[in-house]
Amino acid sequence: MCLREVAEKVKGCCKCDLCKVRKNPVPGEGDEGAEVVFVGEAPGKEEDEEGRPFVGRAGRLLRSTISQIGFKKYYITNVVKCRPPGNRTPTEEEVEACKPYLIEELNCIRPKLVVALGRTAAEALLGLKGPLKGVRGKVLVASAGGARVKVLVTYHPAAVLRNPKLKEQFVSDLKKAFNEVYKQRSLFDSG
Ligand code: URA
Repeated sequence: MCLREVAEKVKGCCKCDLCKVRKNPVPGEGDEGAEVVFVGEAPGKEEDEEGRPFVGRAGRLLRSTISQIGFKKYYITNVVKCRPPGNRTPTEEEVEACKPYLIEELNCIRPKLVVALGRTAAEALLGLKGPLKGVRGKVLVASAGGARVKVLVTYHPAAVLRNPKLKEQFVSDLKKAFNEVYKQRSLFDSG
């Protein structure tokens, strides 16, 4: 119910100019009782066409890794809910306009852990600037609209597609997220 209300607000939103160029707004999707929330940057071409998050190539990598590791109840969303033209990085103004929806989603769900996928999500959630290097793979604490939430930062799956050497760390970060959430090791724990 709570998430449905946020999705309705996202669908009617025109707080920034991205609403003028989007095909479809892209609210988050998944379980209201999710233990973990995955947060990306902004929808890409396929997501804009379908109105669903992470359904393109990067999404297939993310979703297959999530299911191999064995996450049970999860939710997938983005910092910015409309596609920036040409997949450019969202501006600070766009992030600020859209961030309240992310906070509302987190307040509806109250997950055990948030996984920030890439720099835009890490910046929006933790206020981090600069390279991911020092923070990747660590569980940190952020404030989301007054509530404290644990955040684990990892690479964006699109970065992993561009640089396959990052895959091992990406998978191991998601396994760490699994351990953190379920306090047990993933069955997919060959490495
Ligand atoms: N990249 C993102 O950050 N989000 C999506 O939904 C798709 C690609």
